[in-house]
Amino acid sequence: MTRAAIARFDQSALTHNLGIIRKTAPNSKVMAVIKANAYGHGIVETAQALNGVDAYAVAHLEEAVALRNAGVQKDILLLQGLLNEDELSAAVKHRLTTCVHDTAQLDLLESNTNSALDCWLKIDTGMHRLGIRLQELPTFLSRLAALKHIGVSTIMSHFANANVVEDEINDLQIKRFKQLALPTGVQRSLANSAAIFSRAESHFDWVRPGISLYGISPFSDRSAQDLGLKPFMSFESQVITIKQVKQGESVGYGALWCAEQDTYIAVIRAGYGDGYPRHAQNGTPVWINNKIFPLAGRVSMDMISVDLGPTPSVKIGDTAQLWGDKNPIEQVAAMSNTIPYELTCKITQRVTRHYV
Ligand SMILES: Cc1ncc(COP(=O)(O)O)c(C=O)c1O
Repeated sequence: MTRAAIARFDQSALTHNLGIIRKTAPNSKVMAVIKANAYGHGIVETAQALNGVDAYAVAHLEEAVALRNAGVQKDILLLQGLLNEDELSAAVKHRLTTCVHDTAQLDLLESNTNSALDCWLKIDTGMHRLGIRLQELPTFLSRLAALKHIGVSTIMSHFANANVVEDEINDLQIKRFKQLALPTGVQRSLANSAAIFSRAESHFDWVRPGISLYGISPFSDRSAQDLGLKPFMSFESQVITIKQVKQGESVGYGALWCAEQDTYIAVIRAGYGDGYPRHAQNGTPVWINNKIFPLAGRVSMDMISVDLGPTPSVKIGDTAQLWGDKNPIEQVAAMSNTIPYELTCKITQRVTRHYV
C-alpha cells in the first residue's frame, strides 16, 4: 500500500547532539532554541526529548504558552520580548523570561512595576536587528535596577555571520561583547551553533544552539558528520511508479530535464505540497535502496522524479529518503539555493510525523 510522505524523528539523535554540544562547550549552560515549532521538528516533542537542557528559547509568547500547557517546567526565554500589556501579564502568569531589546519594552516594564519577571538584556554588537546600542547599556541597567520586581540575569547578543568563520565581524562582535561593563552576578550569552563549534571564546555562561541540536551543520564547508552530529529528522516517501523514457524525451513541468539516453524514471510521492523545495535543481540527491539518484525535472506539488539510469534496481513501493541520515539535508538545501533551516521549517501538515 502506498502512503503519504513521512517525517521520522529519532529522539536519540537529539540527546546525542546535546551531548556533543555539552562536550564542545563544557563550561556553559545550554539553552535550546526551539522557536518556529522547533525549526519544524515539533516544539513539544522536541522540548520533551531534550529535557537534559538548562532552558529553552522561543520567538513568540504563543510558543512558550504551548510548552507550558504541555507541562514543560524549565525556564523559557522569549527572544523577541514582550509587545504589550497582555503579553506581559501572560509572561508573568506562565513564569516566562523575557528579552528586553528596546526602549518601548523598558517602558512597558516600568508601567507595570509590580509584575515579577526575569529578563535578558539584548545588546546589538553588530547585527543591527534587535538589541540596544552599546552606549545605552548604563541607562538600561540603571532603569531596570530601579524596578524591584525585575531581575536582569543575563546580557545577550547575537552573531550576524558566525557560520562564515573567517568573517571579521565575528571578532568585532566578541570584542565588543567582552568589553561590556556589567554588574557582578550578571551572566553572558552570545554563541549560536556556528559559534559553539568555531569560537570557544564566545561560549560564556550560556550557549544557544538551534540547528546543531537537530543534527544539521551550520557551516557550508563542514558536514554534520564532521561535527559528530546525527540528523533528528528523516523525510521519506515512496516510489509510486517507474517508467521508461527515450533519449531526448523531457520529464515534468516546463520540460526542464531531457533524457540523454534511454533511461528509467522513478516517480516519488512527495512535492512542494509536502515541503520538498520547488527550487531543487536537476541532480539534487534522492536516496533509494542504498543508492543516491539525481532529481530529474521540476518539483511538482505532489511528486518528484529521479533518473534511475538504464538498468533500474528500484521497484514500486521502495522507500525514498529525501533528506535525513542517509541523504544530508545540507546538500539538498545547497542544490535548492536555500539553507536547511528553511527546509525543516517548511514540512507541511500533510506529512505524517513519527517520533521514535
Ligand atoms: C537569538 C538567537 N540565538 C540563537 C539562535 C540559534 O541559532 P542556530 O540555529 O544557528 O544555532 C537563534 C536562531 O536564529 C537566535 O535568533
